[in-house]
Amino acid sequence: MGVLSGKEIVLGVTGGIAAYKACEIVRELRTEGANVHVILTASGAQFITPLTLQTLSKNPVVMDLWNLISESEIGHISLAQRAHLLLIAPATGNIIGKIRSGIADDMLSTVVMATTAPVVIAPSMNTQMYESAAVRENIDVLRSRGFRFVEPDEGELACGTVGPGRLAPVGKIVEMARIVLAEKILQGKKVVVSAGPTVESIDPVRFLSNRASGKMGFSLARVALRFGADVTLVTGPTALENPHFMKTVRVRTAEEMHKAVERESPDADAVVMCAAVADFRAAKVAPAKIKKNEGGWKLDLSPTVDILEELGRNKGRRVLVGFAAETGDIAQNAVAKMRKKNLDAIVANDVSRTDIGFESDDNEVRIFFSDGEVRELPLATKEGIAVGVWLALHGKLFAR
Ligand code: PMT
Repeated sequence: MGVLSGKEIVLGVTGGIAAYKACEIVRELRTEGANVHVILTASGAQFITPLTLQTLSKNPVVMDLWNLISESEIGHISLAQRAHLLLIAPATGNIIGKIRSGIADDMLSTVVMATTAPVVIAPSMNTQMYESAAVRENIDVLRSRGFRFVEPDEGELACGTVGPGRLAPVGKIVEMARIVLAEKILQGKKVVVSAGPTVESIDPVRFLSNRASGKMGFSLARVALRFGADVTLVTGPTALENPHFMKTVRVRTAEEMHKAVERESPDADAVVMCAAVADFRAAKVAPAKIKKNEGGWKLDLSPTVDILEELGRNKGRRVLVGFAAETGDIAQNAVAKMRKKNLDAIVANDVSRTDIGFESDDNEVRIFFSDGEVRELPLATKEGIAVGVWLALHGKLFAR
């Protein structure tokens, strides 16, 4: 069950060309189990119909503060009290100005004033409007009052100008909803997570690598952020986009990953190494493409640095967690790695299976702790496994 499951979310839609993207937001929130109530302003209704939003949200769309039927059935105070989260997307300069100034002259501005729920605002407007002194100041003031903003993207806007003002991607807005609504069990913790493969060049066109997609490590990073941690993700080459709202360091080789993890982790509370770091690299990288040779080809390999083992030598107060990619004797091999690398825990997965481990969307793991305790996390999505891993680490290692 995801963070949004069972949550009551009020979505305010105001009058901008991006109002049509509210449909996608409603759909994503509902897919994750949220109950969505849309408040559509009069100017929002110039861009999108209440019928569309009502059909998608499966709840009546509220528009008019003075409508006797909707006020008796839904009521602005009831909406304000019921909300776990109030999200305004797209938010015009006008609604931002009204909220800052304490104006409550329509349903949306009144509900914002009446709610104690967190409010997330995703602005969307013409670049000059967004950069105007009034809007900048209004946003600063609202931030200082605890309102959260999802900054607009830069790009070509509907009005033809190029610059900031385009509504942030729907995925980013929904991620902010998850972040705001998740429990904050890792608040105040700094964590470094590694992900993906490393790539070791043989010559300008060939390399050594492995099948890691980054999905498991990216899930661990995203979930840690939602749980309130300050997260840095260090990742080898993957097809995945950088996760929102966190520092992501992209590296290629084991050596680059080593440097990045060492640089990012001295003051970390935890380092979780999920990356499939290459164990070997070419002893010498050929400067030009190696010619095909009928007689075969022998490649000299040198071991790469074992990042986790190095960290384990200078562990300090950091919690160190490894992942073990095993194909047999899982418990024995995983525990041996944990001991050799001086870890607090190791998360073992069976990479001989095709439904879990490398590349798949799901995983199934056993967590071995240095005190001998073992926890099993049954088959789940990698995000589900990430939730289980952090809950287990929090309960066992951070609470001490
Ligand atoms: O990315 P996905 O497609 O989602 O796949 C996820 C995964 C299968 C890669 C992941 O769940 C996983 O098992 N990661 C660990 C892969 C691995 O390298 O396992 P290992 O048993 O070889 O290494 C043990 C630990 O030492 C790991 O934490 C590894 O990051 C670390 N290590 C290994 C070699 C090295 N030179 N330096 C290291 O720090």
